[in-house]
Amino acid sequence: MPPSPRIALYPGSFDPVTNGHLDIITRAGRLFDRVVVAILVNPAKQPWFTADDRAAMIREACASQEGVDVETFDGLLVDLARRHQARTVVRGLRGASDLDSERQMSMMNRHLSGNLDTVFFLPSVEFAHISSTLVREIASLGGSVTGLVPPKVEARLYQRREGAPTRNV
Ligand code: PNS
Repeated sequence: MPPSPRIALYPGSFDPVTNGHLDIITRAGRLFDRVVVAILVNPAKQPWFTADDRAAMIREACASQEGVDVETFDGLLVDLARRHQARTVVRGLRGASDLDSERQMSMMNRHLSGNLDTVFFLPSVEFAHISSTLVREIASLGGSVTGLVPPKVEARLYQRREGAPTRNV
């Protein structure tokens, strides 16, 4: 019998995807057969981009990388993991400030599902200062986000700043 594929879930808001996220997806792709990028649909939050738009931007950015699937989800991450028979969650750790919340989420997920472990990847140093929150702030205040996000996402951010209706890339 062939060995079961090693599946990792990479959950997040990805509002929008950044070059830091893409670096983590590339790193995870080297260790896992399949990486499922899972975009949280959180009704309590008002995102910049719809979940479908966020998914489209990630699919476009990862088009050349094999073994990457992109989907949206709501509800508990452990339930999504069960549906995919995934035993690993992937998250990026940019620095010490990420650690406390990431440790709490990881341990809570393991509390809910003893089979689910989280693997943390450190990003390349050139991406360690990037966050979607800062990217949105810079874009909304008229700054340049070149080099922080893929070019198509950059264009979408500027459209959003100009008030143009969002549409899929
Ligand atoms: O990119 P983010 O916003 O830091 O991602 C947070 C995310 C999506 C990983 C986290 O909010 C999550 O997993 N939400 C799903 C709901 C859930 O399972 N909550 C309980 C376990 S901590």
